[in-house]
Amino acid sequence: DARTKEFVRRIENLKQEMRAIILAHYYTVPEVQDVADIVGDSLALARAAESTEADVIVFAGVYFMGETASILNPDKLVLMPDDHAGCPLADSCPTEEFRAFKRQYPDALVISYINSTAEIKAESDIICTSSNAERIVRQVSEDKRIIFGPDRNLGGYVMRKLNRKMILWQGYCYVHEAFNWEVVKSAVEAHPGAELIAHPECREDLLQHADFIGSTSGLLEYAGRSSSETFIVATEPGILHEMRKRSPQKTFIPAPKDASQPWSTCTQMKQNTLEKLLRCMESRQPQIVVEESLRQAALKSIRRMLEMS
Ligand code: 13P
Ligand code: SF4
Repeated sequence: DARTKEFVRRIENLKQEMRAIILAHYYTVPEVQDVADIVGDSLALARAAESTEADVIVFAGVYFMGETASILNPDKLVLMPDDHAGCPLADSCPTEEFRAFKRQYPDALVISYINSTAEIKAESDIICTSSNAERIVRQVSEDKRIIFGPDRNLGGYVMRKLNRKMILWQGYCYVHEAFNWEVVKSAVEAHPGAELIAHPECREDLLQHADFIGSTSGLLEYAGRSSSETFIVATEPGILHEMRKRSPQKTFIPAPKDASQPWSTCTQMKQNTLEKLLRCMESRQPQIVVEESLRQAALKSIRRMLEMS
């Protein structure tokens, strides 16, 4: 509509004026994805934030994403449309409790999912994302114990894949936890020939039945190259926008959620509206800044991930 068009026009102008780059995650609303310079999974967005030559990074995602961009780029202005858009998975791992957890296994190496706070990253040896978790764990010698957090589903997935035990923090993402096989099975049965594709943040019972498991970018690529015509997609449905854009002839069906679960969309990601995106560029607020000693500590584990993947 006219209002959207006007927002987009002003955002495009500001982008030039400010020498800004807009990064957006696949779970944001379609109109935000469409105005972004780069839409990607967590790893691609962290890499883009690391390598950009823009003066300003505008991050449409959840807080840990803007925070990671700021950790990688202390000299750039990092803005978010809404700095209250947190990730409940990241927030399910309080620093003091995690420290106490670590103290139980003093010899263990700590690998944390990028969906974590800067404080947890500072407590970690290596960061990973859903697209490189397996590759990173594979590089750790067999005799080393590993603490993995905060997502127990991604951790469990890597454990089964590599046939290797890890000590898991019991966090989960409410969006992905809402899918289970009992309910998703009916959708698979209703669409003969459809493939079930799932994010590794999903529960084990669902992953066991998936035809393909991958990060958001991994799911997108798979949906593009597979010869199937129909896909049941078990992740946040924001990804369907790009799937349909890339493969308009194929059918993408969001996996149904369990009736007992309140959400299978990420309400925090959806807080990034086009209007807030424009306002944050106009006002250069809210800025994401990480205190320097914390930033240095968190940067080490992020750098290690970037070197290892
Ligand atoms: P990826 O895009 O890296 O797969 O991450 C999914 C997610 O839940 C982001 O919060
Ligand atoms: Fe966090 Fe889940 Fe939302 Fe991703 S989808 S930002 S993991 S709550």
